[in-house]
Amino acid sequence: MSGKKRSNWFKSHTDDFFVRLSKQDNFRSRAAYKLIEIEEKYQIISRSKNVIDLGCAPGSWLQVLVNFKNLKSITGIDRNDVEPIQEVNFIKCDIQNSEQVANALKEINQKTDLVLSDIAPNITGIGEVDQANFVDIISNVLAICEQISITNGNLVIKVFNGERLSDIKGLLLSKYKDIVVFKPKSSKKNSSETYIVCNGYKD
Ligand SMILES: C[S@@+](CC[C@H](N)C(=O)[O-])C[C@H]1O[C@@H](n2cnc3c(N)ncnc32)[C@H](O)[C@@H]1O
Repeated sequence: MSGKKRSNWFKSHTDDFFVRLSKQDNFRSRAAYKLIEIEEKYQIISRSKNVIDLGCAPGSWLQVLVNFKNLKSITGIDRNDVEPIQEVNFIKCDIQNSEQVANALKEINQKTDLVLSDIAPNITGIGEVDQANFVDIISNVLAICEQISITNGNLVIKVFNGERLSDIKGLLLSKYKDIVVFKPKSSKKNSSETYIVCNGYKD
């Protein structure tokens, strides 16, 4: 990155309201506010007992989750390491690696009523490729839900708004009773990411 580009990036990043707020609130990333907004709108965490956070690094969603005293267990999963957080069980696992997923599920050894996924594939900038990679990730997340969700469990999943969104919705509706698309204000306007809140896992 050239010096000028770096300083532009730095300026837009530090100017960002949610970046400043996350520093003030001691969150590890601005992503915390996306989950907070989702909770404010859908009360999905306060209705849950056991939660699994897929793609949890650096851990700001986990920091939000530990404030919910109704939660009996919080498990974070990521292919990268996460600085430990009290009351959180972290498992290092690539959700696209079936052997690692099988080991992680063995370690968790209980059903869950809420799965969160903030995972995005590495962006190539080629729309079609990125969308296809997102569909892959979503299939992997759903495969995990199949093994670990209770009937009527819920899922919050990050997706890209694009041509494949209707395929993704179809995939999610085959497993959940209803789904709703929600773009938090804290998600950058120029980012095509959005979230789908899925209610009522169908066994
Ligand atoms: C946007 S970050 C998540 C931020 C997190 N929600 C937070 O609040 O700190 C996406 C994460 O997904 C993880 N990730 C991407 N692909 C993954 C995969 N195949 N398996 C596990 N984690 C993955 C990345 O390592 C990254 O930490």
